[in-house]
Amino acid sequence: MTNILITGSKGQLGSEIKELSIQFNNLQFFFTDIEELDICALDAIDSYITDKQISYIVNCAAYTNVDQAEENEQAAKLINADAVKNLATIAMQNNIILVHISTDYVFSGDNSTPYTEDQKAKPMGVYGRTKFEGEENVRNICQQHIIIRTSWLYSPFGKNFLKTMLGLGKEKDSLDVVGDQIGSPTYAHDLAYTILHIIQSITEKSHFTDFGTYHYSNEGVCSWYDFATEIQNTSKNKCKINSIESKDFQCLAKRPHYSVLNKSKIKHIFTLEIPHWRSRIEHCIKRITE
Ligand SMILES: NC(=O)c1ccc[n+]([C@@H]2O[C@H](COP(=O)([O-])OP(=O)(O)OC[C@H]3O[C@@H](n4cnc5c(N)ncnc54)[C@H](OP(=O)(O)O)[C@@H]3O)[C@@H](O)[C@H]2O)c1
Repeated sequence: MTNILITGSKGQLGSEIKELSIQFNNLQFFFTDIEELDICALDAIDSYITDKQISYIVNCAAYTNVDQAEENEQAAKLINADAVKNLATIAMQNNIILVHISTDYVFSGDNSTPYTEDQKAKPMGVYGRTKFEGEENVRNICQQHIIIRTSWLYSPFGKNFLKTMLGLGKEKDSLDVVGDQIGSPTYAHDLAYTILHIIQSITEKSHFTDFGTYHYSNEGVCSWYDFATEIQNTSKNKCKINSIESKDFQCLAKRPHYSVLNKSKIKHIFTLEIPHWRSRIEHCIKRITE
């Protein structure tokens, strides 16, 4: 049996992994969140992985509030960078494969074509900067790693754009949504499946060598305005969505204007077909409303 530790398992991605885990009965999962296992607590992680004979860590724990991070850099760095260093060190010392999740916000948004894994990171805010530092810690310490950068995550769990738009769409006649930030939504269910597929593929290979950084989102490109419009149409809300410019939307953190990720590498190495973002909204809304 392959024993897998999932950290931050009560978040969006961790919850989706938990739901899908029953389909992977050759893998044994240990789901933890901050109450059971704080990723900042090096000794606690060390004894946990020894006790449970862990051979993979999937780190879904993170400080994910992009705006709050601007005013709380210390807390964001502690979880997104320093704690990740702990995980990477423990993984390296114990021959564990570390699957770590990162973000499109490591990029500045100056591109006009999808970002590849080897393009230079240039984060615009604290969240992106601390996430990039976490990535670098993983790359520098633990050779056996898979870093997956993803974007615009949504699911039936926790707080996310789709759930906010569904709620507001029921209450309001119209909503202003930013139309000049371009990216790709990611259904956390699809990313969770991909992570489990990757682990399965690695366990089936006698000698896996393609460790490194990968990009994953759903296929297709849109603005937050397009995404919001599709959510209202799919949910049959009557709410009208108006496109506004980023400069007219007040928030603490600067966001990249363009953060589309090139997914060729992950599709090729792990033989994946990725669904288009438009085709996944209905699946998520059904799970929320049924
Ligand atoms: N959400 C997005 O749009 C997005 C986009 C791109 C990339 N990502 C990345 O994708 C990954 C998963 O994101 P997500 O949306 O699933 O995040 P999430 O819903 O915020 O879940 C993160 C989980 O980690 C927990 N956590 C926080 N500090 C912890 C600690 N010290 N030890 C253990 N657990 C801790 C959180 O608990 P509390 O809730 O109690 O803090 C929460 O349950 C993250 O690495 C994130 O940076 C997310």
